[in-house]
Amino acid sequence: MIKNILITGGAGYIGSHTTEIFIKNKKRVYIVDNLSTGFRRLINKKAIFYKSDISNKNQIKKIIVKNNIDSVIHLAAVLSVGESERKPKKYKKINVDGTKTLLEAIKNTKVKNIIFSSTCSVYKDGLTKVNEKTKLNPSSVYGYTKLQCEKLIKIFCKKNKLNYGILRYFNVAGASSTGKIGQINKGDQLFKNLSIEVNKKKPIFKIYGTKYKTRDGTCIRDYIHVSDISEIHYKVLLKINKYNISTILNCGYGKGISVYDAIKEFKKYANKNAKIVKFPNRKGDMVKIIASNKKLMRFIQWSPKFNSLRKIVKSCLIWEKRQ
Ligand SMILES: NC(=O)c1ccc[n+]([C@@H]2O[C@H](COP(=O)([O-])OP(=O)(O)OC[C@H]3O[C@@H](n4cnc5c(N)ncnc54)[C@H](O)[C@@H]3O)[C@@H](O)[C@H]2O)c1
Repeated sequence: MIKNILITGGAGYIGSHTTEIFIKNKKRVYIVDNLSTGFRRLINKKAIFYKSDISNKNQIKKIIVKNNIDSVIHLAAVLSVGESERKPKKYKKINVDGTKTLLEAIKNTKVKNIIFSSTCSVYKDGLTKVNEKTKLNPSSVYGYTKLQCEKLIKIFCKKNKLNYGILRYFNVAGASSTGKIGQINKGDQLFKNLSIEVNKKKPIFKIYGTKYKTRDGTCIRDYIHVSDISEIHYKVLLKINKYNISTILNCGYGKGISVYDAIKEFKKYANKNAKIVKFPNRKGDMVKIIASNKKLMRFIQWSPKFNSLRKIVKSCLIWEKRQ
């Protein structure tokens, strides 16, 4: 049985939602986060928090041993595609070297399962309905570092007889219906940036790239609600633990939403003088990527609860109003 879970990056956007689900299901959650992009106010009051860095091997090992951790959900990372192009060394150090150290800390403990947050950025760009066997060819430094982490985890788990669940998230958006947690960091997250603009007197909706070879010229993504993604962690962890298996799963709804589609939905809630401003393409941005989620559906008999653009946008706006 799963009892004690360590979530790295639990003070972040997805980590706080994932913590919420595990706590709701009566699991004990321990969080390791250095608060570099996370926030104290996102930390669940029922979780035990350690302000620590995944690269601090001795400290992490102590936390794992002291708390009898049986499963690790590894979300701590840096994740801006644009920044990764400018600062590749930072991305290698935190994502790849950080994961390596975390694995060393896990070695020879009672940890039996690892869930890892990977990304659709590991795939070749421009594809519709990618499945887990589709060619891997990251177009950004960020995607490349995540692929390196996947490989490290696979080798480590095979060698040390652990189960892994590698989750390739597509684009995560939205906020918890409790209204208590949501996305705080701006970064290059489209839905966050649009939510901020909606509340302004003169909203400016920015589009980076309008001449891509897509149906309306803008980038296309497969957005998935953060509460659905969090529930996937819970169900996948239960299953890999129960059957002693490992897997790699795409996590998306299998629907393409363009930047224009998103802006149109947000515009419904904005002041009439909202403006759309076009900017050049950003280096490293993928043009189009949509998931095939058949394997996930089969693996956990998944039925998403927030599978609509309207629901995602509404939850973003409710959260943003409280900020
Ligand atoms: N947000 C998305 O759309 C998306 C898509 C695909 C994959 N992911 C992956 O999901 C994970 C979580 O992303 P998020 O959106 O919640 O981002 P986030 O920035 O909100 O969360 C990351 C957390 O990790 C912490 N952290 C960073 N480096 C650390 C370190 N060295 N030691 C300890 N803690 C550290 C940060 O303080 C933060 O709380 C990341 O691994 C990311 O690559 C996110």
